[in-house]
Amino acid sequence: MSPAPSVTSVGPAKPPMPDQRVSDAVGKGSPSRLGRGCPLPQKDRKVDPMSFPHLPAGALCVLVGPPGCGKSTLAARWPDSWRVCLDRFRELASDSEMDQSATPVAVEIQNLLLEARLSRARTTIVDSTNLETRVRADLLARANQWRRPRVAVLFDVPLDVVEARNAGRERVVRPHVVRKLHRLLPTAEQLRVEGFTAVHLVSDLTTSTGRSR
Ligand SMILES: Nc1ncnc2c1ncn2[C@@H]1O[C@H](COP(=O)(O)OP(=O)(O)OP(=O)(O)O)[C@@H](O)[C@H]1O
Ligand SMILES: [Mg+2]
Repeated sequence: MSPAPSVTSVGPAKPPMPDQRVSDAVGKGSPSRLGRGCPLPQKDRKVDPMSFPHLPAGALCVLVGPPGCGKSTLAARWPDSWRVCLDRFRELASDSEMDQSATPVAVEIQNLLLEARLSRARTTIVDSTNLETRVRADLLARANQWRRPRVAVLFDVPLDVVEARNAGRERVVRPHVVRKLHRLLPTAEQLRVEGFTAVHLVSDLTTSTGRSR
């Protein structure tokens, strides 16, 4: 199996293209925002590991994975306005991403934005753990209401890798929470049965074929 995608392998900034491919969104943020130093040598850019998955225009893309697996790092490769993120909304409401008392208002903000974006067929990335079936069911219902494509990106990242990434960042989630949430990871098959029209595995993101399952 291929290793998880490297966050250091993205090329320089370029404008998004109309077909809204992930590859076209890559590099939209500044290098510093993506947390990387120098771009890869030209020869290594031929296969852009983030040129996959393709997101159909107007899709709702749900990231699914435990804390520390790399969801926000991936999401930062799309235009910022595509992303809805409960951590961010908690922070806007309370000055702390971790303040769970701000979760209800964060959910309200997220739902308002989902309605606004899906009704306009604007591609939208849901950057939260989305590990609970009922949370995904609610998101799927919202996408269905507007007949939008429903894409899941499943972070099938091994627990030891997730633990190491979590431990190495500024905002460390308690290890037992990470372990507990990692156990909730669904399979790709489960996600398809739930109603996602496409399911992409993060472990495939480094392949040149861009398989989905
Ligand atoms: N593909 C990767 N390779 C190496 N390190 C990575 C990769 N993706 C993310 N990281 C690092 O792992 C840490 C966690 O990433 P990130 O914050 O994106 O996780 P998250 O899934 O958004 O977590 P949370 O659910 O808590 O918001 C960060 O320090 C990030 O730089
Ligand atoms: Mg995050």
